[in-house]
Amino acid sequence: MKIVVIGTGYVGLPHAAVLSEYGHEVYAYDIDETRIKAYQTGEAEAIERYVNEPGLADVVAENLGRYLFFTTDINEVVEDTDVFFFCINTPPQRDGSTDLSYYLDAAHHLADLLAQRANPSRVVLVNKSTVPIGTARLLESVMHEYGVKNVGVASNPEFLAQGNAVEGSRRPDRVVVGADTEEDLEALRRLYSQFVNHVRIRYLETTPETAEAIKYMSNTLLLTYISFWNGVGARLAEAMPNIRMEDLKIGVTSDARISTWGSYVSNGAGGSCFGKDIQSLIYQLNRAGRSTDLLQAVYGINEYQKTYLIDRAVHEARFSFNQKTVALLGLAFKKRTNDMRDSAALRVVESLLARGVRAIRAYDPLAMDEARRNWFNPDKNHLFERISYHDTAKEAMTGSDAMYISTDWEEFRGLTRTIQTTVKPPYLVMDGRRMLPDFEKLVDAGYVYLPVGGPLMSGSDKDNAKSSDGRGVVAIAHRDVRQVG
Ligand code: UDX
Repeated sequence: MKIVVIGTGYVGLPHAAVLSEYGHEVYAYDIDETRIKAYQTGEAEAIERYVNEPGLADVVAENLGRYLFFTTDINEVVEDTDVFFFCINTPPQRDGSTDLSYYLDAAHHLADLLAQRANPSRVVLVNKSTVPIGTARLLESVMHEYGVKNVGVASNPEFLAQGNAVEGSRRPDRVVVGADTEEDLEALRRLYSQFVNHVRIRYLETTPETAEAIKYMSNTLLLTYISFWNGVGARLAEAMPNIRMEDLKIGVTSDARISTWGSYVSNGAGGSCFGKDIQSLIYQLNRAGRSTDLLQAVYGINEYQKTYLIDRAVHEARFSFNQKTVALLGLAFKKRTNDMRDSAALRVVESLLARGVRAIRAYDPLAMDEARRNWFNPDKNHLFERISYHDTAKEAMTGSDAMYISTDWEEFRGLTRTIQTTVKPPYLVMDGRRMLPDFEKLVDAGYVYLPVGGPLMSGSDKDNAKSSDGRGVVAIAHRDVRQVG
């Protein structure tokens, strides 16, 4: 089949590349010329500058010029294309609604071209990126407005997690296709023939609106589950004596109906999807006049979680951040990415600056350029001048009064020794990801350890350790350090 993928970002490029592996003739189209030129080189470095996904550059290089083509001129491919995928960014707006302006620009442009198409064969237009429920119908009305003939609309949401786009596209859990007619469903069956009747992959055919709703339900349910662990599990282990977080997790998730995914308590879930999708769903349901209590609670819990450890440091450890230097370890919203969208680190930095820190010494194995350029640019806010970037965690820690672990990078698991050789107790370690399995060594040596999902701990209750500002970091006397399991 001949396919056009409109938009070549995190959704479009992996989708186009993997479709081309199955022998379809795929044209990946984008209005951004520099991006398309980079992809046309087939070079890993150039491709990864835009979309950094394991294995993606190889798939592009292997299929480039055979089954996969890049273009900025959609005009030349419209005539005999069977299926168009919309993989266009749909950013959130302040009120939670979705900005469909880029999407609609592309829809109008395509409608104009399709209206002039001489080829009478059917065309199917498929929404791949997450769009509000009813957008496929909206697309249909744009096509009618331009008098496009023999056209069908469909929704085929993507469920890929970052860092797994290629493998996830090759072996999805499910393929959800929403369309109105048997003819359009059949076209998509042909396109996805490798997944139809697959022993493991669920291939679901439904209405466009149901498919759109499945995407929102999936993402908000995942965030609800994470928020249950952050808002209930972590709270229990922090507040009640002798509850071991890791044992709690194993005990509860041993039930085959309850997943381990999402049970990793953290300083809030970030990324390009969860926050945006839950806000959009709240907006959509509100507009429909329906209650959104649960969703609002989940959103609130997740946002609160992002700065909660800093509040705990102030209230439980009585740590004053004013004029302090804090090492911030991890900037990305999760490990193995440089993406900082909705990352907890953004809120951590905001909170630290608001509390008057003198300096933030940041380290992240991948996201420091991204942070400097797009999130903490001093030209936009002079307070960002207080952030410096360092090549290693050790260097970031040097000369700091406290540290905050924000991202679950594997390398942070070994930090206990680095802490002991770099900074002197009493020193406050805020662990937003429970990354230090051997934290007891730190506590024994007189450091103050404050993890998400565990009580504040300091070496001994005898000599309540003094913080560097002399105001005192108070150990929680009655708690056994072994509580954080
Ligand atoms: C997510 C969904 O998983 C995916 O299905 C959807 O299509 C897009 O959104 P992604 O944003 O790549 O994918 O990240 P994911 O790996 O799901 O993690 C999201 C956030 O939750 C991260 O900040 C992560 O660190 C956090 N998380 C995840 C937890 O805090 N605890 C967990 O147990 C799991």
